[in-house]
Amino acid sequence: MAVQISPSILSADFANLAAELERIRDADWVHVDVMDQHFVPNLTLGLPVVERLVQVSPLPVDVHLMIEDADRWAPGYAETGASSVTFHAEAAQAPIRLARELRARGARAGLALRPATPVEPYLDLLDEIDMLLVMTVEPGFGGQSFLDAMLPKIATVRRVIDDRGLDVWVQVDGGISADTVARAADAGANVMVAGSAVYGSQDAGARIAELRDLATRHRH
Ligand code: DX5
Ligand code: ZN
Repeated sequence: MAVQISPSILSADFANLAAELERIRDADWVHVDVMDQHFVPNLTLGLPVVERLVQVSPLPVDVHLMIEDADRWAPGYAETGASSVTFHAEAAQAPIRLARELRARGARAGLALRPATPVEPYLDLLDEIDMLLVMTVEPGFGGQSFLDAMLPKIATVRRVIDDRGLDVWVQVDGGISADTVARAADAGANVMVAGSAVYGSQDAGARIAELRDLATRHRH
């Protein structure tokens, strides 16, 4: 599967989202960070904004839920027509049931792990999900530094996915830039989220191309 680039609008101009979507036309997805000020110490946007983004976005929407009680709230995001909905393992009581609910609503189901959450307890769930998100910063804010300590976790999940012949994507989110994307790709990630690196660039399209090229050349 080709490398995919999913720019995060967390670093976009929230007063000009339609124009900000245009800047990332060359990407594969738009990554939308939903934060509830409980699961993480930041508050962003919720269901009405995601509904509208799904309607107007030229790219499929990749929702990253950083919210408590995912079992209760995540299915509603799948009902917006978002193509991918990722919830945090730490915020779900019944991750298998929830993943099935997301898929039943037509979304790809993603499972996210905070940096301190080991992947081993979740390896048996890989059959039930479409993507595993390895957070490479503490969730909550853009612009933080990539945590190299997450590289072994990426490598572990990639090895298990390949050994079992599964088609589960491995996403990385946090601190992805031209300096770090190759390491993430080498370890086995194939979906790259980048917020500040893309939106902080004068030429977002060129930055997306650069990230794609680096990741493809270092693809596991
Ligand atoms: C952080 C969010 C990320 C954020 C990444 O909790 O989940 O998607 O936008 O931002 P950068 O790429 O700047 O680290
Ligand atoms: Zn995110």
